[in-house]
Amino acid sequence: MHTPPDIKTFDQSAFRKALSCFPTGVGVATIVSADGQPHGMTISSFNSVSMNPPLILWSIGLEAACLDDFRQAEAFAINILAADQKPISQRFAQTKQDRFSGLDWHLSPTGLPLLDGAAATLSCKVWSRYPGGDHEIIVGEVYELTCSDETPLLYGLGQLTSFPKEL
Ligand SMILES: Cc1cc2nc3c(=O)[nH]c(=O)nc-3n(C[C@H](O)[C@H](O)[C@H](O)COP(=O)(O)O)c2cc1C
Repeated sequence: MHTPPDIKTFDQSAFRKALSCFPTGVGVATIVSADGQPHGMTISSFNSVSMNPPLILWSIGLEAACLDDFRQAEAFAINILAADQKPISQRFAQTKQDRFSGLDWHLSPTGLPLLDGAAATLSCKVWSRYPGGDHEIIVGEVYELTCSDETPLLYGLGQLTSFPKEL
């Protein structure tokens, strides 16, 4: 039987490099806080979990300035960014007073901020939250979605690019 060692055999930069070999899409998780303000942050930790019920997950860093707002929210949206939305992915990853200012966005029928031009949007009810080291894992049940023909933005090897049109 294999016994895992007690100590790590790598440093954090090696861990980051290994993880960057797994390309993902890029999303912006959005909510409206109790005071009615829209909040959003760029994420790449998004993944599918279950088809029935339709569940997805993502994780939020415990240092995120909007952590408390996301903890209080009962619903959130995941905006899966299109290839031409690279500037939006950068905007929602930088500390800025109002990330929505000057952007084209609207409220969904159930009141969640959706970014116009996204490849897809998923409106979710919080299903569960789990501790995950320096992140909190949020599982959401999808209750509404939009899907376009936009090419998705891709994140891998530390770079943002667009999904190849022909493989
Ligand atoms: C491509 C990309 C992916 C990211 N993925 C995540 C993520 O999955 N979870 C997370 O907590 N932060 C992630 N971040 C960092 C946050 O977007 C960033 O720390 C943001 O400023 C947090 O919002 P805050 O201003 O509320 O702290 C990512 C950043 C980039 C550029």
